[in-house]
Amino acid sequence: MSQPKPLVEFAGTGRFLPDRVVTNDDMARIVDTNDEWIRTRTGIRERRLSDDDTTAAMMGAEAGRKALENAGIGPEDVGTLIVSTATPDRWLPSTACDAQALLGCSNAMAFDVSAACSGWLYGLSMAEGYLTAGRARYALVIAAEKMSAIVDWSDRTTCVLFGDGAGAAVLRRAEGDRGIVSAFHRSDGHLAELLYRPGGGASVPMDEGVLARRDHLLKMSGREIFKNAVRSMAEAASNALEGAGISGDEIDLMIPHQANIRIVEATAKYANIPMEKVYVNVDRYGNMSSSSIPVALDEALEEGRIQPGMRVLTATFGAGLTWGAMVWQF
Ligand code: UT7
Repeated sequence: MSQPKPLVEFAGTGRFLPDRVVTNDDMARIVDTNDEWIRTRTGIRERRLSDDDTTAAMMGAEAGRKALENAGIGPEDVGTLIVSTATPDRWLPSTACDAQALLGCSNAMAFDVSAACSGWLYGLSMAEGYLTAGRARYALVIAAEKMSAIVDWSDRTTCVLFGDGAGAAVLRRAEGDRGIVSAFHRSDGHLAELLYRPGGGASVPMDEGVLARRDHLLKMSGREIFKNAVRSMAEAASNALEGAGISGDEIDLMIPHQANIRIVEATAKYANIPMEKVYVNVDRYGNMSSSSIPVALDEALEEGRIQPGMRVLTATFGAGLTWGAMVWQF
């Protein structure tokens, strides 16, 4: 089977990371943990945390501004602005509308996508649909996550894992062979309670009980999530490769979601991709939910790890449960 022709391509990418570096030793001053446990169980050495005044929309707008610059277009050229976030600044309106106002994307429709760590890849597929239908000439797909605002800083099993940051890409209709070659997305709502925030939404509104139980904060069944992540990312990667008509050994770089180095290694093994061909930044940033992949993509391009002609496999997994994978041709 020959490789399918992409419908859309990347026109530019960007990222924003807060300046504040928080090491594992710093975390050990907050909860009962240590550098050795965090490093060996997760691969994380440090993470970036934003200050109280920095919102997800601000981080997303910064990443978006860089992606627009990199694409050589202005904010008014964007017709569709999608923000993936698990940490919206407010319940209403969307973080995308706040980012739109900051960016000046005055000709865009703007909305959020809620698919946790998988949200940016979901957003790319949505943008592909809008662009292909002729609804927009350029789509800006941002991931913006302020995980520090939703983790329970008294729970050592979760707070050490996450970091803040944002990534973005501008997409346009493909003119040649470069772009999104294949995509696979799935979700399973039956397992929602493995990773969720039980209270504070419309079904269990915020009250003193929610606050006392800390039910407005993130709860995770780590081991179950781990098993599902490996299984689902392997399934998604295999389907995306099949959709592209290629095998793992034809991939030049893999950019997996960065939740845990052990999940990354297991997924790469299933996809038959050696670790030298896997982009890793979980050591520097921890798990930035949906921002992990676009930040890694922007870094890999900047570092020259992605060159014209290369094929990239990306795979993700997160709350929902949600998962997915894509093959990109550069
Ligand atoms: O973005 C997608 C969503 N997230 C993920 O994909 C994360 C998936 N899960 C994981 O990455 C791993 O399950 C964790 C890193 C969360 C946990 O690693 P684990 O190897 O599954 O550890 P565990 O939960 O089985 O805990 C082992 C021990 C426990 O102690 P006992 O019961 O054996 O005495 C924990 O209490 O490690 C203890 N522990 C810690 N110790 C020091 C848990 N967290 C910590 C900590 N520091 N931060």
